[in-house]
Amino acid sequence: MTRVCVVGGGGYVGLGYAVALAELGHTVVGLDIDAARVDQLNQGDSPIFEAGLPEMLERNLASGRLRFTADYANAVPEAEIVFLCTGTPSLSDGEADLRQVRAAATSIGAHLASGRSTIIVNKSTMPVGAAELVAGIVAEHAPQGASYAVVSNPEFLREGRVLHDILHPDRVVLGGDDPRAVATVAALYEPLGAPILRTDHRSAELIKYAANAFLATKISFINDIARLCERLGADVTIVAGGIGADPRIGPRFLNAGIGFGGSCFPKDVGALTRMTEGAGLHPGLLRAVLEINRDAQRRFVTRADQLLGGLDGRIVALWGLAFKEGTDDLRESPSVAVAEMMQERGAQLRAHDPAALANAARRLPWVTLCDDLYETTRGADAVALCTPWPEYAAADLKRVAALMRGDLFLDGRNFLGPRPVEAAGLRYVGIGRGARPALDAGLASLVGG
Ligand SMILES: NC(=O)c1ccc[n+]([C@@H]2O[C@H](COP(=O)([O-])OP(=O)(O)OC[C@H]3O[C@@H](n4cnc5c(N)ncnc54)[C@H](O)[C@@H]3O)[C@@H](O)[C@H]2O)c1
Repeated sequence: MTRVCVVGGGGYVGLGYAVALAELGHTVVGLDIDAARVDQLNQGDSPIFEAGLPEMLERNLASGRLRFTADYANAVPEAEIVFLCTGTPSLSDGEADLRQVRAAATSIGAHLASGRSTIIVNKSTMPVGAAELVAGIVAEHAPQGASYAVVSNPEFLREGRVLHDILHPDRVVLGGDDPRAVATVAALYEPLGAPILRTDHRSAELIKYAANAFLATKISFINDIARLCERLGADVTIVAGGIGADPRIGPRFLNAGIGFGGSCFPKDVGALTRMTEGAGLHPGLLRAVLEINRDAQRRFVTRADQLLGGLDGRIVALWGLAFKEGTDDLRESPSVAVAEMMQERGAQLRAHDPAALANAARRLPWVTLCDDLYETTRGADAVALCTPWPEYAAADLKRVAALMRGDLFLDGRNFLGPRPVEAAGLRYVGIGRGARPALDAGLASLVGG
């Protein structure tokens, strides 16, 4: 069993790894500069909403295999492997902000033990060249006699399924130029049974960005088709089903809606855009992906504004604030963008979310937050479903209709579909499900009309 230190061990990825590696029998120290979070974790209280996390955290703290600290000296010197899982948020121009990574690499280097060899695993999503950057910073601060190797190991987990995805990966990517270090990290993953792709640092780093950019592109592609469906009187859910049945395309990530968000897709597409520009190339596709995504949220708000005859003074019930179901994460959440745009137009917002209300109280203090879903709809002119939590599929829509003063139900995720909503007497408006207008002259001419 290996002695592991997880730097950034209080975050979504770092905490997931700290807990999961302890579950696999390793001795793990989760290290985080957020001392309050460290205290909370040592008491067995998870600061993050994730399925299975509280139980696995408690079990591994009790076993003695897992502890948390804010002190590098108390974690790095004894570790054989150090996972670097700090955040890499976006700068305003989209470039990855590597300040957390630089600070962590500096502290890791300064606390390596002399006469020992340590493997540093780059788990954070970092631009191509980051392995050299981390190795250089560590070299600058490491004491004499300490040796180390860097392995690039990008992460593909999904929030809401963090522990599941860590323990059941579909592939593991390891980039590096030190075969022994790569083999040692591979040995950690081998019990999980996933294929392990060994490659160079730069390919490993690019795989992560290319994967997220591809998934984001699928979402923006279907949202672009959804716009066309609205104009042409087609139904994007049927179009998506029809194209997704082709195994070369596949059905996933073809749900039209108010777009992608979260801490990864927007920032990673932004960072890849900057990398492409930095390489002297034109990031035409990536820019379009981001633009269509922003447009998806704007169009949703404009639609609400038009259908309500103006949002000023209207009461809107927002269902779902997290960027997706299963998480409490509000980072880059499309629901938050929608809330902000509606508020700017004078709407009064009442919001529900099964997991994100505590985060929302800090992020959206001007929104009335409701523990009870039905409370959002009392006297509301419209419901705007923004996050597809399963709870919303089970809502009593007749009760909702009775509580509202208006009848508009905007389904920003095509989650409920028109049937149950209309059966409750509400007016359903989804995404990309147009009424059938007459073809305008320009279009009619294309079919000889
Ligand atoms: N969240 C995801 O779904 C996901 C998925 C795949 C990859 N990633 C990548 O993993 C990385 C981490 O993402 P996250 O969502 O877990 O971020 P996060 O912000 O939740 O966690 C980062 C943690 O690092 C800590 N930290 C910051 N500076 C530190 C330092 N110098 N020393 C020790 N700790 C420090 C913070 O306090 C925080 O707890 C990012 O690069 C992200 O792109 C995230």
